[in-house]
Amino acid sequence: MQTTDATQTADAAQFRDVVQPTTSPQNPDTPLAVTLVLGSNRHGRFGPVVADWLLDHMRDHGDLNPEVMDVAEADLPTTFEPSAAALAARSSVTPRLAAADAFVVLTPEYNHSFPAGLKNLIDWHYTEWRAKPVALVSYGGLAGGLRAAEHLRQVFAELHAVTIRDTVSFHNVGASFDEGRLKDSSGPDAAAKVMLDQLVWWGRALREAREVRPYPA
Ligand SMILES: Cc1cc2nc3c(=O)[nH]c(=O)nc-3n(C[C@H](O)[C@H](O)[C@H](O)COP(=O)(O)O)c2cc1C
Repeated sequence: MQTTDATQTADAAQFRDVVQPTTSPQNPDTPLAVTLVLGSNRHGRFGPVVADWLLDHMRDHGDLNPEVMDVAEADLPTTFEPSAAALAARSSVTPRLAAADAFVVLTPEYNHSFPAGLKNLIDWHYTEWRAKPVALVSYGGLAGGLRAAEHLRQVFAELHAVTIRDTVSFHNVGASFDEGRLKDSSGPDAAAKVMLDQLVWWGRALREAREVRPYPA
């Protein structure tokens, strides 16, 4: 008898080409290819301000080689129709996710969860997330986007990704920055260091594990 998970996997395979992660052995000291997923595509969004702050930390971390995947630039339809336009959009997105060793997902909170555009980018992919670590950075109003971050943990668990325990969150995010700069950066700077150090630990461990043996999914 087929389990629910196996059924979901079979269903998913109908609209997702499987891109296998890179398997060529790497020097363990090679910096991790980490993709920052900018999760808001809202007109007038605040997300790029937080992303710039985050990217500075990722660039300053000697073990990370960062790049950005902006949901606003991933023109993937929500219907999953494999149209020529959709396949062209996917070809500019999917290989970049496949090449990543690790992810930092930056999400705002909309109605106690994460945005639809981010979910769509996630749902278009499968093996690209698998056996890789995902750090979560959130922002929003009073709760700092924490509900969005916790929802993402459930989603990434389904995709066999490992979410990092420590996060960075910004409550009342608009008031926390002044002309693109954090008014008081001490707390977020310290939180980012802990989170990125944990991401690197998991990223190295999982990259080495993927090189040694295939993940049993
Ligand atoms: C549709 C919508 C729903 C929102 N819901 C929440 C919410 O549930 N909790 C919260 O703290 N902030 C909420 N906000 C505030 C956003 O988190 C905040 O405006 C944030 O800057 C949005 O990110 P963005 O500007 O990058 O799109 C909501 C904003 C929008 C547009």
